[in-house]
Amino acid sequence: MTADIRVLPDADALFRAAAGLLVRAAGEAASSRGGFALVLSGGSTPRGLYSLLAAEETLLAAVLWNVTHVFWGDERHVPPDHAESNYCMASETLLSKVPIPPGNVHRIAGENPDTDRAAAAYEAEIRKHFRLAEGELPRFDLVFLGLGLEGHTASLFPGAAALDEKRRLAVGTRVEKLGAERITLTAPVFNAAANVAFLVSGEEKSPILKAVVEGPFTPRKFPAQLIRPAPGRLVFFADAAAARLLEKEA
Ligand code: 6PG
Repeated sequence: MTADIRVLPDADALFRAAAGLLVRAAGEAASSRGGFALVLSGGSTPRGLYSLLAAEETLLAAVLWNVTHVFWGDERHVPPDHAESNYCMASETLLSKVPIPPGNVHRIAGENPDTDRAAAAYEAEIRKHFRLAEGELPRFDLVFLGLGLEGHTASLFPGAAALDEKRRLAVGTRVEKLGAERITLTAPVFNAAANVAFLVSGEEKSPILKAVVEGPFTPRKFPAQLIRPAPGRLVFFADAAAARLLEKEA
């Protein structure tokens, strides 16, 4: 399984390329299945993508929002109106500006004091949406992910027990370095998706991007390396600054 590394000149070009993938994946899913199941990434990088989607009429109109269902790869342990909430960021930048039915937005209950219960409720919502049998994995049409400076993705952090989860779709996890609880989808869920796209922008990400895509396979150290969808497709959208240390294509 090899990743497709797409290097774009700058962040705006990266967001446009990612938006193009979203429009294609949405069209394919809507025409083949009558629905589009999208997993949004948290963090700050995707803000540019969500804002672009909301600002450009052609992109906005290209997605059948009435049959689009939005989920999140992870969530912080905060209420939905909190500045740190991944739901809040996506809602403010995109979801409040598109005609998506409220019932199609499947947020993670970060406000729940018990992250394991929040994860279990989110898993139940995913199982219900996909009508999953026991042991069956959801097949999201498109998953966006970010890349942390030390190699985490979603809330799969180095050395965490969540990295070994094979059965549950979502788990609560303690992130020691942040002194915070999180709720995250697990690697098997990401790896069952039809398309997984990392969004990696900025020079500070260049060392970790090189380590993840060109370095030795050490997924406990760099959990982003766990994400190897099969038969789904994996693409890294990186701007030139983030990709500056990568071996130049032959
Ligand atoms: C989160 C994300 C996390 C993020 C990376 C990169 O909840 O923060 O799921 O995995 O994607 O930390 O974050 P930036 O895009 O802010 O660099």
